[in-house]
Amino acid sequence: MSKHSIPLAGVIGYPVAHSLSPRLHGHWLQRYGIKGHYVPLEVHPDDLVEVLGAMGRMGFVGANVTIPHKETVLRLADQVTDRATLIGAANTLTFRSDGTIFADNTDGYGFIENLRQRARGWDPRGGPAAVIGAGGAARAVIVSLLDAGVPEIRLTNRTRLRADQLKSEFGARIVVYDWVHMNAMLDGAATLVNTTSQGMEGQTPLKINLEELPKTALVTDIVYTPLRTPLLAAAEDAGFQTVDGLGMLLHQAVPGFQRWFGQRPEVDEDLRNVVLG
Ligand code: ATR
Repeated sequence: MSKHSIPLAGVIGYPVAHSLSPRLHGHWLQRYGIKGHYVPLEVHPDDLVEVLGAMGRMGFVGANVTIPHKETVLRLADQVTDRATLIGAANTLTFRSDGTIFADNTDGYGFIENLRQRARGWDPRGGPAAVIGAGGAARAVIVSLLDAGVPEIRLTNRTRLRADQLKSEFGARIVVYDWVHMNAMLDGAATLVNTTSQGMEGQTPLKINLEELPKTALVTDIVYTPLRTPLLAAAEDAGFQTVDGLGMLLHQAVPGFQRWFGQRPEVDEDLRNVVLG
């Protein structure tokens, strides 16, 4: 039992002002009548060890972690889930009453849950997934797709070496395609995922021709600013089912909130509207 009467949680980042997590968790706290607070915590990398060491004693039951701390916290945690180890980063910490820190990564879970909730008839086992990008977000997407039983992942990245590295790490079900031959990986694919920042507000859109993609395929983007990225707009116009990236953010927050505050929160239209402001 905590000696603090009001449980605290927060998001640790540097910078952190842009984070939508306070709005999201704040909404849930209010909705479920839970006495607690969720705050943004701007923590410089030089201060991270000290801050993490003190948070439990200050009444924090948990924290989300964002850029640039997601990899560092793995090394600082006392216990790490298998999925966080595989992804190589953590986004959800729990401060236990014995002073230890438990680290998890729920990004891949959020990715899959978003598709399960919003895509009609989508089954990850239904066919190959074409994944664009090989950065941190791609790792979470790949780990979760493999775990969900996808038969094959076709992977492409501007810097081919990073895609080859993921193949050497995650093995046989990954097939790497050249960036310039990206269109070839769409033939017969059941899912297309953009994990790069291309298409984000202020960035160049992704150049891809969707002609080879079967009409039954699902197209999704982890970018959610804008919600309708150029990729999703083109896919929608061509008649594909699409799912935007906002739900990944909403669903990745569920396991932390449940662990910290003892209530499994709902992800619904209401929440989307609150977070979008
Ligand atoms: P994140 O954690 O968001 O995935 P990251 O690890 O920096 O961030 O990875 C960014 C991804 O977006 C990478 O796949 C990156 O490609 P490179 O590995 O070649 O850098 C991709 N990316 C970013 N800007 C891009 C652009 N203009 N064109 C193509 N790919 C881009």
